[in-house]
Amino acid sequence: MAAVFDFSGRIVLVTGGSGGIGNAIARAFRDGGAEVTVTGTRARSEYPADLSGMAFRQLDVANDTAVKALEADMPALDVLVNNAGTVVYRGREFELETFRKVLDVNLTGALHLANRFHDKLRYRHGTVVNIASLTSFFGARGNPAYGASKAAIVQLTKSLAVAWAPDGIRVNAIAPGWIETGMTQRIRENASLDAAILARTPLGRWGRPEDIAGVALFLASDLAGFVTGETIVADGGYSTGV
Ligand SMILES: NC(=O)c1ccc[n+]([C@@H]2O[C@H](COP(=O)([O-])OP(=O)(O)OC[C@H]3O[C@@H](n4cnc5c(N)ncnc54)[C@H](OP(=O)(O)O)[C@@H]3O)[C@@H](O)[C@H]2O)c1
Repeated sequence: MAAVFDFSGRIVLVTGGSGGIGNAIARAFRDGGAEVTVTGTRARSEYPADLSGMAFRQLDVANDTAVKALEADMPALDVLVNNAGTVVYRGREFELETFRKVLDVNLTGALHLANRFHDKLRYRHGTVVNIASLTSFFGARGNPAYGASKAAIVQLTKSLAVAWAPDGIRVNAIAPGWIETGMTQRIRENASLDAAILARTPLGRWGRPEDIAGVALFLASDLAGFVTGETIVADGGYSTGV
């Protein structure tokens, strides 16, 4: 993506920036001149994605000690992108242990990161971008934990926005539609699901990770200086019609 925003001098952290949507967001900030740190759960060498020009940290967002250590190692922060997320298929999210694990990563992890970096964000009048989902609004038949976590992200975004507005911190979210990443690979490989998604999407295609990066840059930019507590849907029109 051509750099249309100038983030020179800004420090950006993208959790789960090692692949998929997070990596597209991280690359866009990097190309806009920001100093970017991305995280992944494995070693840097295990990721095929473009991580050049970025710092890398191994992080499980559900590991409280690791989140604390990351915050201690970063001297400042302008933009926190809470992108890390997980989903468990085959009905396993109905099991209590799996339900808790998914909530821990998708919801509690996001709150913990935001809380930990609050003071640094306040110091630089920074901003938080959370990643929600269409399952924030629609029922997720086989994924009660994923859906509940993403619905809660929308509400968490509003709560942090009103709580931290006096600190000069804006908090927003993006709800992506169907995006081509590792997370949706098994859905794209199912011909009937793939066809149903394409048929319902007015723009007639799956979203690309870069489609979400543009929205993240806008929300983090000064152009969005009066936007807080908002969740922007970026879904090619999927949720607009029937
Ligand atoms: N793709 C879609 O259609 C879609 C739609 C709506 C919302 N989203 C959301 O967009 C975000 C990015 O997903 P994606 O589609 O890009 O999927 P992805 O390619 O699977 O990326 C998920 C990222 O989250 C990281 N992650 C998973 N568990 C983690 C943990 N416990 N601690 C830290 N990082 C963890 C992964 O790191 P590792 O690679 O190391 O596991 C990976 O970098 C997620 O929040 C997802 O829910 C995706």
